[in-house]
Amino acid sequence: MNKEELNNLLKKGRALLHYNVSTFEQFKAGIEAVKETKIPLIIGVSEGERNYFGINYIEDLIDEAKEQGIKVFLNADHCKSINSAKEAIDYKFDFVLFDGSELNLQENILRTKKVVEYRNKKNKNTLIEGEIGYLTGHSDIEGIIELKEEYFTDPEIAEEFVKKTKVDLLAISVGNVHGIPKGVKIKGKLVEKPKLDFKRIKEIKEKVKVPLVLHGGSGLNKKDYLKAIENGISIIHINTEFRNIWKKELEKSLKKESIVPYKILNPVVKKITKKIIFYQKLFWLG
Ligand code: 13P
Repeated sequence: MNKEELNNLLKKGRALLHYNVSTFEQFKAGIEAVKETKIPLIIGVSEGERNYFGINYIEDLIDEAKEQGIKVFLNADHCKSINSAKEAIDYKFDFVLFDGSELNLQENILRTKKVVEYRNKKNKNTLIEGEIGYLTGHSDIEGIIELKEEYFTDPEIAEEFVKKTKVDLLAISVGNVHGIPKGVKIKGKLVEKPKLDFKRIKEIKEKVKVPLVLHGGSGLNKKDYLKAIENGISIIHINTEFRNIWKKELEKSLKKESIVPYKILNPVVKKITKKIIFYQKLFWLG
């Protein structure tokens, strides 16, 4: 995927779903969904997910699907080290997110720039996403999560970051969190679920011309997604919600008599497929 292809793609619909996989069944659900909707889908693998799947296997599966005309793209999600980003560039992933959000600004700029330069040298068909602002949480989170003022992306710093690193996409922190916590403490105030700062999304979009990515999409409601898109988000990541479906359906299926893997796993794939279709249509068509 190159910049022009992404821009053309984003002109055809409102926003794309990014969905994470670590098993073949999750991958298959993504394929089944795209076959039905004909809406492009970004399939993501974090470092843990791609190590479990096997980076070569997931890359081959995506290539095979592309050859069949199925519109799926592969993202190396949250690469924490330059080497892990380089590996995904070498494997010709469509997207690589270098996540330097835990570093200080200068170090984040420096390392992200190195990844962009490596891409420029090695493979122009991988787009690089940078991350600015801090996103807390994870899929197994159960309690209350705290969002501090300093976690949020500052629009001016976002502008400086994009200018200096020349990333193709930008992940931002605007009240979004990874996982589905019981509650969120935002700047000292406790609320039931994440509250997105739509004004901030708009301000960042006005300063930054590259597509904006919203991570931590699980647990939001329909209105939140649509408002985020309206204000400038082009890609929404959802993982925890799909992991929950995977586990719940698998447990249900395992209680049945059969020991035949495809009979046990098929209902899991079907349930996940249905949810992917729901989000794809919501984000792409509005
Ligand atoms: P959630 O698990 O909160 O949906 O976040 C997913 C994500 O951002 C993956 O990059």
